[in-house]
Amino acid sequence: MIETVVELAALRARISEWKREGLRVALVPTMGNLHAGHHSLVHLARQHADRVVASVFVNPTQFGPNEDYGQYPRTPEADAAGLDAAGCDLVWMPSVETMYPFGTDGTVKVVVPGVTAVLEGAHRPGHFDGVATVVTRLFNQVQPDVAVFGRKDYQQLAVIRYFVRELAFPIELLAAPILRETDGLAMSSRNQYLSPEERPRAAAIHGTLQAMREAVQDGMPPAVVEAQARDSLIAAGFHVDYAVLRTPALDEPGQGQQGGARVALIAARLGRTRLIDNLEFTI
Ligand code: PAJ
Repeated sequence: MIETVVELAALRARISEWKREGLRVALVPTMGNLHAGHHSLVHLARQHADRVVASVFVNPTQFGPNEDYGQYPRTPEADAAGLDAAGCDLVWMPSVETMYPFGTDGTVKVVVPGVTAVLEGAHRPGHFDGVATVVTRLFNQVQPDVAVFGRKDYQQLAVIRYFVRELAFPIELLAAPILRETDGLAMSSRNQYLSPEERPRAAAIHGTLQAMREAVQDGMPPAVVEAQARDSLIAAGFHVDYAVLRTPALDEPGQGQQGGARVALIAARLGRTRLIDNLEFTI
C-alpha cells in the first residue's frame, strides 16, 4: 500500500531508512491530476530503482499571474490510488509552506540562462525559474538516485539537464516517451479544460507536427514548413504561440543543413486551453 507523506521530517526518515538498506531511490515529480502519461513515468522509474517516490505539488512559482494556478485540477485521493496501482511506493505531497518556508516572495531561486530565453521561456516569463527552483528543492528533499521526466515537456527537460549538470546533482535523469490519446493528442492534465466541441479539434496539433516532419523529410526549407504549420493551425481555429523546427539544443537549424536530429515544437491555444506538444525525428 502506498504511503502518503506531507511532513519533511517523515520523508527524510523513510528515505534514510531505504538508503541504509542500500536501496536505489527514484523520483517522479508531478503536479498531480495524474493520467496514464504520468503513470508511464512511474513504470520507467520502477525499472531503474528499488523504491519509487512521486511528488504531487502544484508549484505556484512556475505559474504566471494570469495563468491557471488557482483552477489547476487538484485530485490528491485519485492521484494516490493511481500511483499505488502504478507501483509507486511513496507519494510526497508537501504544502506550499513546507516547500517555501519563507513564502513565495522570499524564495531562493534557481535561474537557468540560455535555453530558458526562447519558446516556452519567452511566452511564459519566469516559468522555468519556478520549475528549476521547485525541482531543485524536490531533489534536496528526496535525494533520489534517479529522476524521471517526460519528453512531452521537451524544453523543461533541457532546462533540468542543464542545471543538474551545472549544480552537480548526483542524479541520473531518465526521459520518458510522450503518451498520447488514440487520436494523437498528447495526454495532459489541461486537456480536461477542452470543451466537447474543442476536444476532437485538439488532435490537429499532433497532425501538424507529423506534417512538419514529412515536409522536412521531403526537403522543404524550415521557414516554409513553419509558416505552413502556423497557417494550418490558425485555419483550424488555434491561437499559435509558436510552431517551429529546432535542433535538439533548441537552436534554429541552419539553412540547407542536411542530416541530423530535429524536433518540431508547437504551443497553441484552443479557446482558453493552452496546449504544447513536440515530435522528435531525424532528417
Ligand atoms: P506535470 O505537468 O504534472 O508533469 C509531470 C511529468 O509528467 C513531466 O515530466 C511531464 O513531462 C510528464 N508528462 C506529462 N504528460 C505526459 C505525457 N503525455 N507523456 C509522457 N510524459 C508526460 O511538468 C510538471 O508537472 C512540472 O513542471 C514539474 C516538473 C513537476 C515541476 O513542478
